[in-house]
Amino acid sequence: MMSAPILSRLSDPAPLEDDVTLVMRKAMRGMGLDIAALAAESTVSVAEIERFLGGNFSCDMARAVAPSLGLNADAMATLPVYRPNVPIMHSVSRLVLPFEKDQVNAWLIRDEDQALLFDTGYLPDSAATLVSLLGAADLNLFLTHDHRDHVGGIAALRPILKKQHMVPLGQTVSLGSLQVKCIDLAGHCIPSWGYVIEGLSRVICVTGDALFAGSIGGCADQFTYQMALRNIRQHVLSLPGDTILLPGHGPATTVAQELRRNPFVSGKTAKPAPEEEVNPMKKRSNFF
Ligand SMILES: [Fe+2]
Repeated sequence: MMSAPILSRLSDPAPLEDDVTLVMRKAMRGMGLDIAALAAESTVSVAEIERFLGGNFSCDMARAVAPSLGLNADAMATLPVYRPNVPIMHSVSRLVLPFEKDQVNAWLIRDEDQALLFDTGYLPDSAATLVSLLGAADLNLFLTHDHRDHVGGIAALRPILKKQHMVPLGQTVSLGSLQVKCIDLAGHCIPSWGYVIEGLSRVICVTGDALFAGSIGGCADQFTYQMALRNIRQHVLSLPGDTILLPGHGPATTVAQELRRNPFVSGKTAKPAPEEEVNPMKKRSNFF
C-alpha cells in the first residue's frame, strides 16, 4: 500500500536508507566480486557470507569482509546503530514522498523571499500538494538526476514554478542571499548533479542518490562505482565537516559524520579505475 507524503524536519530521526546487507551487496557489485570470489579474497566461507547477506549480522563478519570490499571495518561493524545527528534548521524541510513500497526525498529550502526545491518525488502530485500546503510558490527547481522517483512530479509543479534551473557543472547561481553551486556527482547515474548552497547558517549540500547517510547509491558496474567514489570524495567530502548533506533517500547527515561512519567513504578503496572517456549523455545506470 502506498504511503502518504510526509513533511519532516531536518533534525527528525529516520532510519538509514540501506542496512548492512545492502551496503555489502553494493560494494560486491562495485568491486566485481560474487560470493565465491569474496570468500576466496577474505577469511570467511561462502556459507558464512550467505548467512550474513540473509540478515544474520555479526560484528566479526562485518569486520572480516570489509577489507576485501574496500570498506571501513569499524563503520561496517557499527552501521546497525548509526543514526546521524543533524541540527535544527527551520529553513530546510524534508518532503518524504511515496515511491512504490518505498520513499524518496525532495528538499525545500526557504530563505527570505526565495523558495528552492530539489527534486520532485515520483507521483505526479505528491510534492506539489505538500509544497502548496506550506504556502511556497515561485519555486526555483533543481534536479539531481532523472531517475523516475526524482522527476515524476515535475508536471504538477509547473504552475508554481518560477524557474527550473539547469546549472552547468562548477557554475553558481545567486538567488537572493543564497548561492547555489552545481557539482558533478556522476556514478550512480550519469549525469548526476549535486548542489552546494551557501548563505544560510550552515553550508548545505544536496547529494541526490550519490551519497546516503551510511551508504551510497547503487552503481551499475566497477567503472561507475569508482567514478561515484571519486566524485563524492572530490566534491562532497572536501566540504567543511559541519556541512549538512541532504540525500535523495533516508535522513540528512553531515560531512564529518559520514567521514567517520559511512563504510564506503571512510574506508580504503581499491585503486581507481583507469580514466575513461565518458559520453555524459549516455545513461549508464538505472539503479535507484
Ligand atoms: Fe537514483
